[in-house]
Amino acid sequence: MRLRAHPVAGLRGRARVPGDKSISHRTLLLGALAVGETRIIGLLEGADVLATAATLEALGVELGREREGRWRAQGRGVGGLIEPDRPLDLGNSGTAARLLLGVLAGQPFTSFLTGDASLRSRPMGRVIEPLTQMGAAFLARSGQRLPLAITGRADLLPIRYRQPVASAQVKSAILLAGLHAAGRTTVIEPQPSRDHTERLLGQLGAELEIEALADGGRAISVQGQPELEAAELRVPGDISSAAFPLVAAALGEGSALRLDDVGVNPLRTGLLQCLLEMGADLRQGALDGSGEPVAWLEIIGGPLAGIEVPAERSPRMIDEYPILAVAAACAQGPTRLAGLAELRVKESDRLGAIARGLAACGVAVEAGDDSLVVHGAGGRPPGGGVIDAHHDHRIAMSFLVLGTVARAPVTVEGAETIETSFPGFAALMNRLGARIEALEP
Ligand code: S3P
Repeated sequence: MRLRAHPVAGLRGRARVPGDKSISHRTLLLGALAVGETRIIGLLEGADVLATAATLEALGVELGREREGRWRAQGRGVGGLIEPDRPLDLGNSGTAARLLLGVLAGQPFTSFLTGDASLRSRPMGRVIEPLTQMGAAFLARSGQRLPLAITGRADLLPIRYRQPVASAQVKSAILLAGLHAAGRTTVIEPQPSRDHTERLLGQLGAELEIEALADGGRAISVQGQPELEAAELRVPGDISSAAFPLVAAALGEGSALRLDDVGVNPLRTGLLQCLLEMGADLRQGALDGSGEPVAWLEIIGGPLAGIEVPAERSPRMIDEYPILAVAAACAQGPTRLAGLAELRVKESDRLGAIARGLAACGVAVEAGDDSLVVHGAGGRPPGGGVIDAHHDHRIAMSFLVLGTVARAPVTVEGAETIETSFPGFAALMNRLGARIEALEP
């Protein structure tokens, strides 16, 4: 599917973005491990989350959809899944694959996992290593990639694991495996990463201890073999999806946009901090939420200035670099981004995709191994590029936003990947004043 975004004056109006992808996966996975019926409100019905749902059904979990976003999961209890009679296909989702491996490590049977071309190229060694220490066995393709087979066991060993790199997926996989271990499992993260798993575990009654460490990291411990109590879980709007209309509005001269019900977990709000530092007219107000902080966001369009984004901020905005790079392309002066090594192993090599895409749209960029300098145009950049999404939804949406704020339209090929996280993206943007059109194949 090819989409083309044409330049417009700005975005105006009010909207709610779809549910948070990270939290949606976790509500389904934890609902499957609880005892009784978990009710989920606001579930993202994007392709990634639907892949998690189908996989859980193949593992014996009964799921029901009442209406859009409202789902029920009949939990089977910790360790209660059944052997699937088919390979489990996680589509494009690294989160689904890695978190599921944590759960499967504690099930005494063999499962076969695969995914799309993007997911099959991504490293799984980062979860295979700690889960092997806990007693699971793996047979994986070269480079520890999918397809792979995992054989779990009911009596996993509790471990104390120090993560080399901050990763919420790896942390969550170990904590989920830790639920199946006899004893206390501890993960030490070098910097705090999104803590949705910890918050949901708390809501379901797990015994959890979180210790802030002197070096800025955290130690998270979970007591194994609990009986998780089913609960009602609310999924707020995804700040990583809100980021696209938000930046499009920040850059459009005539914009005034309000987004309701956005999850503003402090470990996800690095982009908001960057936009404020760039001079954006951005305000937020707290709303009632349960389990996760939720807010409305309002933004008025205006000029932005280039900034330096320190490496330490990356866990708090790991998925927002592509769209931040688009904001930087329109800002006055250079924006310097550091600590980007992890972007090389996302849904695509995102650092390469950002650099090539911006260059194709007439923006001056310098890419290093784990850094990027974007030389902002101080207004609308030329645009006019044709961008391959490379199975990466965030690359697709970022460059469509660039088309909205550039001087010439930007075309994205492979735009169907947007369905993984933001169904209805083009329609929502167009309702707010964007002009994104589907081109004939
Ligand atoms: C996610 C964690 C991040 C992020 C991904 C979602 C999660 O990955 O990039 O989109 O839901 O835990 P890493 O844990 O690899 O940094």
